[in-house]
Amino acid sequence: MYYKPLLVRAFGLLNPILPGWNPDPSIVRVGSDYFIATSTFEYFPGHPIYHSKDLVTWELIGHGLNRASQLSLLGTPSDAGIWAPTLRYHARTKKFYLLTTARYAYTAEYRLFPRSFYVTTEDIFANSWSDPVYFDALGYDPDIFWDTNGDVYSTWSGINNAVDKIYSIYQNKIDLATGTSLTEAQVIFQGTLPDNSSARPEGPHIYFINSTYYLLIAEGGSGPGHRSTIQRGPSPSGPWENNPKNPILFNGADLSLSVQDTGHADIVQARDGSWWGVALGVRPQNGDFNHQQLGRETFLFPVTWEDGWPVLNGGNPLSEHLVGILKDKSPLVAYFNEFTSHTLDLAFYFLRTPSKAFYSLTSRPGYLRLYANAFALGDRDSPALILRKQTSYEETFETELDFSAPTNLTEAGITIFYSDLLHNGIGVIGDGVGGRRIITRTNVQAAQVGPWPLVFTNSTITTVAYHLISASGPVRLRIIGNATSYSLGYAEGRSGKFVFPIVIDSSLLSVPPVGGFFFKGAAFGVYNTGNGKPSISPADFAYWRQTPAM
Ligand SMILES: *[C@@H]1O[C@H](CO)[C@@H](O)[C@H](O)[C@H]1NC(C)=O
Ligand SMILES: *[C@@H]1O[C@H](CO)[C@@H](O)[C@H](O)[C@H]1NC(C)=O
Ligand SMILES: *[C@@H]1O[C@H](CO)[C@@H](O)[C@H](O)[C@H]1NC(C)=O
Ligand SMILES: *[C@@H]1O[C@H](CO)[C@@H](O)[C@H](O)[C@H]1NC(C)=O
Ligand SMILES: *[C@@H]1O[C@H](CO)[C@@H](O)[C@H](O)[C@H]1NC(C)=O
Repeated sequence: MYYKPLLVRAFGLLNPILPGWNPDPSIVRVGSDYFIATSTFEYFPGHPIYHSKDLVTWELIGHGLNRASQLSLLGTPSDAGIWAPTLRYHARTKKFYLLTTARYAYTAEYRLFPRSFYVTTEDIFANSWSDPVYFDALGYDPDIFWDTNGDVYSTWSGINNAVDKIYSIYQNKIDLATGTSLTEAQVIFQGTLPDNSSARPEGPHIYFINSTYYLLIAEGGSGPGHRSTIQRGPSPSGPWENNPKNPILFNGADLSLSVQDTGHADIVQARDGSWWGVALGVRPQNGDFNHQQLGRETFLFPVTWEDGWPVLNGGNPLSEHLVGILKDKSPLVAYFNEFTSHTLDLAFYFLRTPSKAFYSLTSRPGYLRLYANAFALGDRDSPALILRKQTSYEETFETELDFSAPTNLTEAGITIFYSDLLHNGIGVIGDGVGGRRIITRTNVQAAQVGPWPLVFTNSTITTVAYHLISASGPVRLRIIGNATSYSLGYAEGRSGKFVFPIVIDSSLLSVPPVGGFFFKGAAFGVYNTGNGKPSISPADFAYWRQTPAM
């Protein structure tokens, strides 16, 4: 409408291959097509499925869990929800299997260990997967392995001691059709690290390569200690021989590297016989771990073999480039959506499973219209909020909002969003007497009282400020992100000059409240809320422009 898509000078890095938060990648190849699934936590739909022909350029083709019958994230706390998947293809039945876990309860007070499940599809491009088939075990990070004799193994991470919360890799044989256990669950591995609660062996994948079984796991927690290690043995259950080169992926040995927290790997063989792997990593900015607002992204690396052991990335730490192996990609292109399509782009997400439809692309052609409900972004519900991941550290988000705000509770705007507990925004709110004001909500953070066990109060530390604007007409809203901060601004009309009343430190999007978690990353969003009361004022957004920059 007002802008043409721009080609900007953003870095053409190779890695991350899936920029913006995409943790826990699982990869599979079918013919010459590669597919990756990643984690989505309390976002809906769950588990993006990406497709590539060359491992470098990826396209989002759908989601494994896009119906409420598959995933009902109602009241699911931040960073619970959908955890690490395993994506596999069963050649005999020509079906894709997506294994996963929905953690409905994961707060400091109460961590219910969930049961895992799988969904299947015969046509991965159709964006329609089956309803869940549940397993019997408690645990997370489920893997599936078909042995040559037809036995099907389920392998996962769980606790073996409810008091000490010592984690282990568990396994049993299952009846695949029903998910029902056929054998007792047994601990098949406890990891390579000293056996305590921060060792946490997880993310298991079993492979059968060259007549040998391999068990690849993640361990060391999800921070700088995170790593990948591998074992091999004569059966899918071991006994295991430790790779003397473990850990085979561990950037945490050098905390000055630009990529950190590496691990949770999965490997795949290309058609030409070469091997490749994917893993998660973060790119801390400003030389510290408080500025990693994009979260855990997906990285690619080559895999070679030595003495029957896989060597990840030539034995080197993961990096943003694979010099001499793969060339960097083209620079990132701006995302510009003028809402002329009648369907929502696949890259948009809701917070939790919406109870009912709250958006329309047809009510006012050329606009994304949001219908508010009583819930606001800090509520553990599903507000009228549409999110799209931030994809580079230096990135600007802009929209134009048409919104009349009849009461001092009716509010619509934009947000830089991590969760109900961490988000900062700028919007338009009524003044209650016919006028409108710009409202900024910053430093939104949950408070915490007392020592362990941690209890969150319902209150938030929020700074609210108001700025006067005209009573009607469009308002443009903009968030400019860089390595260490976000600037939140507005401009009246279609040509007014931007004012940036707020600059926040981006650590407000990457440092969780005490007792909280940081498993996701930042997303830009548009919202409409009645702040506790239902509202009948729609909010119309004329475009969505996300511009990555150098
Ligand atoms: C677990 O063991 C490692 C290595 O001995 C140690 O560094 C770490 O502090 C321990 N963690 C806990 C929670 O005991
Ligand atoms: C499999 O074994 C063959 C013969 O020993 C060897 O050449 C090849 O590198 C092995 N492949 C892997 C993935 O270990
Ligand atoms: C909103 O309007 C109500 C009713 O007019 C008034 O009682 C309340 O103080 C106002 N709140 C704010 C924050 O302006
Ligand atoms: C949070 O709010 C709920 C419902 O209003 C209340 O029952 C609970 O006690 C509150 N919790 C805290 C820690 O204040
Ligand atoms: C980010 O933007 C803020 C606000 O304009 C500025 O003060 C800061 O220097 C910038 N930081 C970097 C690393 O570019």
